[in-house]
Amino acid sequence: MKMYAVFLGPPGVGKGTIAGRFKEKYDIPTIVVGDILRKHVAEQTELGLKAKQYMEAGDLVPDEIINNMVRDVILSGEWENGFILDGFPRSLPQAEALEDIMKELNKPLTGVFFFEAPEDVIIERISGRLICPKCGAVYHIKNLPPKKPGICDKCGTKLIQRPDDKPETVKRRLAVYREATAPLVDYYEKKGLLYRIDATQGIDQVVSQIESIVNSRVK
Ligand code: AP5
Repeated sequence: MKMYAVFLGPPGVGKGTIAGRFKEKYDIPTIVVGDILRKHVAEQTELGLKAKQYMEAGDLVPDEIINNMVRDVILSGEWENGFILDGFPRSLPQAEALEDIMKELNKPLTGVFFFEAPEDVIIERISGRLICPKCGAVYHIKNLPPKKPGICDKCGTKLIQRPDDKPETVKRRLAVYREATAPLVDYYEKKGLLYRIDATQGIDQVVSQIESIVNSRVK
């Protein structure tokens, strides 16, 4: 399987988890903008120092910083199996920048998979999420628990809650999503690129929905 895909949807809906499954199963690389930013913050790079305040507040990092960062990542890579963009674009200016980047790469976007779930499901997922600060693995207290409570299966590190998963910040992230990112649904629908995914289903079922779209409808 090969695709140049965007995973679009509200915070905590499961984009990262599902992108990870495609990476494991089909060796499709994932470009996880939130993870790239968190690495910059942890390493206190110039970009990380600029991004930190926005991320902690639950706001978007300015488009110019993100567009340049993603452009560098995409245009400097080899993408034999395509890629999954998780967390980009999140605004109309970012969607326009992606169009230019794909032209430069000389590849068409396969599709934009829009993960849909009601807000109570999203809040339940975010409030139970635990992440590994070392390797980035993502768990859920109930839906995807680690084998040993509070410890990463992959590297044995103590799991933590993401700093921006605090209830007040989540509220802000959802508001920012509705205002800046939700308009992209219309934008990609008009371009005939949007595929709606029922993200309330279990992880395997969400993966199957995307597989069948890629296999049957996407040329
Ligand atoms: P980012 O890290 O991208 O956060 P996000 O979009 O808010 O997405 P999340 O990582 O919260 O959720 P997810 O959908 O990946 O869910 P997950 O798979 O973990 O961005 C963080 C910040 O960086 C932003 O606020 C912003 O400041 C900045 N930023 C990032 N991109 C930017 C951009 N383009 N422009 C500007 N700023 C940007 O799943 C959630 C939980 O649910 C997990 O516990 C998981 O185990 C569980 N779960 C997942 N799927 C299922 C399922 N099907 N069934 C049951 N449980 C499930």
